[in-house]
Amino acid sequence: MTPSVDPAPYRGPDPRAVRGMFGAIAHRYDLLNHLLSASVDRYWRARAVSLIASQSPRAGDRCLDLCTGTGDLAIAITRRLGLETVGSDFCHAMLVESARKTRRLGKEPRVRLAEADAQALPFAGSSFRFATVAFGIRNVESPEAVLAEIHRVLVPGGVAVILEFSRPVVPGFRATFDFYFNHVLPRVGAWVSGVDGPYRYLPESVRRFPSQEDLAAMVGAAGFRHVRYRNLTGGVAALHWGAKPHAPTADPYPGGSTPSM
Ligand SMILES: C[S@@+](CC[C@H](N)C(=O)[O-])C[C@H]1O[C@@H](n2cnc3c(N)ncnc32)[C@H](O)[C@@H]1O
Repeated sequence: MTPSVDPAPYRGPDPRAVRGMFGAIAHRYDLLNHLLSASVDRYWRARAVSLIASQSPRAGDRCLDLCTGTGDLAIAITRRLGLETVGSDFCHAMLVESARKTRRLGKEPRVRLAEADAQALPFAGSSFRFATVAFGIRNVESPEAVLAEIHRVLVPGGVAVILEFSRPVVPGFRATFDFYFNHVLPRVGAWVSGVDGPYRYLPESVRRFPSQEDLAAMVGAAGFRHVRYRNLTGGVAALHWGAKPHAPTADPYPGGSTPSM
């Protein structure tokens, strides 16, 4: 399917509102994630970890988990693959939850945390072999800026992995899921978290966010190659990935001369 050309690129909400929203639900975030998805969110993150495993990670490779929130993906990567992971997020309260969890699980030395805006990262270029974002890129003001930062901090050949809610692709299932997502989830979310806005914002933002094909096109436009995606749970979520190209090899025939055959 050809990606549609949208002259107005997706823009997330005001970053201060996003930070405040996650700050307000941080203490209930994990509970609600697992409750509202019947723990399917764990399976989706496990698929992201399996994708990294399929890229033959080597000892010493580092992974940056952007918009890490309470750290579930960062912890899963370190637990399963033994990689050193840096989890970064701009919401202090979410990072506090993450720190508590990594301490409890004894993963503290291998999962480091950094308070940072994903659109302006405090990391040197070419410093990570993998970069992941789970359910984060939809919440940033400019997904293009995040993709550009991921591209900058990855080593050549490094792999970006994006897990995000998407568009269900199975018609009968889509109608049922939409009813749950638009009507049931916001009510349960508000009731358990005690805050009204965030779980109304979730389906609204997913509706506005680019489709699987359009996100793949965005990842490609950010300079990644071999961009692919896979639908998870009938497209409720999708896993996108792409590689930062190796530096172009020097022109073997500078000046335009070519060897005679
Ligand atoms: C839905 S949560 C996802 C958390 C986690 N990755 C997960 O899989 O559950 C989105 C996270 O993105 C963070 N976030 C949103 N915009 C951000 C930005 N511009 N820079 C850094 N973090 C951001 C929020 O603070 C929040 O913790």
